[in-house]
Amino acid sequence: MVKRRPFIAGNWKMNKVTGEALAFAREFKALAPELQGADIAICAPFTCLAALAEIFRDTPVAVGAQNMFYERSGAYTGEISPDMIVDAGCSAVIIGHSERREILGETDETVRRKTRLALETGLRPIVCVGETLAVREAGRAAPHVRAQVEKALAGLDPAAMSRVTVAYEPIWAIGTGRVATAADAQEICAVVRGTIAGFAGAAAGETYILYGGSVKADNIAELLGTGDIDGALVGGASLKAAEFAELIRRAAGAA
Ligand code: PGA
Repeated sequence: MVKRRPFIAGNWKMNKVTGEALAFAREFKALAPELQGADIAICAPFTCLAALAEIFRDTPVAVGAQNMFYERSGAYTGEISPDMIVDAGCSAVIIGHSERREILGETDETVRRKTRLALETGLRPIVCVGETLAVREAGRAAPHVRAQVEKALAGLDPAAMSRVTVAYEPIWAIGTGRVATAADAQEICAVVRGTIAGFAGAAAGETYILYGGSVKADNIAELLGTGDIDGALVGGASLKAAEFAELIRRAAGAA
């Protein structure tokens, strides 16, 4: 399998008002010329997407949203459509993050619909999957993740798989400091790729598969050294420009 350029996506979650986002962006932009060798995205709150996209225009830093609705327009008060995200200057969107699945009622079916619509509107979907601690301790992590991947992606045109990113994020590792071992992360990321190969054949080799859950500068190189992990979805360690830049530098060095 071709070892690709690592893809490092920051997930700011519900952090930073526009002034804080712009302060990050100015500092990060000054560091970006040193950050060759990795694809970079910052997935920020809706309210600062346009300002961030403007400041990162003509740089290699992509800006993404953290959610979208599964229709393009209409009577859906409070929702944001993929066209609006594109209009704000974004090229990526996180779909089905475990916090949305657990706290906000996101289901495999909404994840499936959103993923298709993101692709249709030219956005790069970052589709999140991952098991709870109870599922892992019951020895069911692999079948659980396999089912999530099948429900989200089966039936897509194999040609679209190179535009899909899957982020494997074990829920027990998110924000806890308890990172999966590189071997455990690799094992499930291989399950993700094998599942995609089951319905998309060789195109599975084109899909980016990220690991997420307490990724930091100190553990990124080991995670990227395993085979099926092409990058990371980074929460806490993406909030400070210098820390995120250091993580990316080490990711690029590990590839
Ligand atoms: P964390 O979050 O890096 O803070 O664990 C990752 C995520 O939820 O995407």
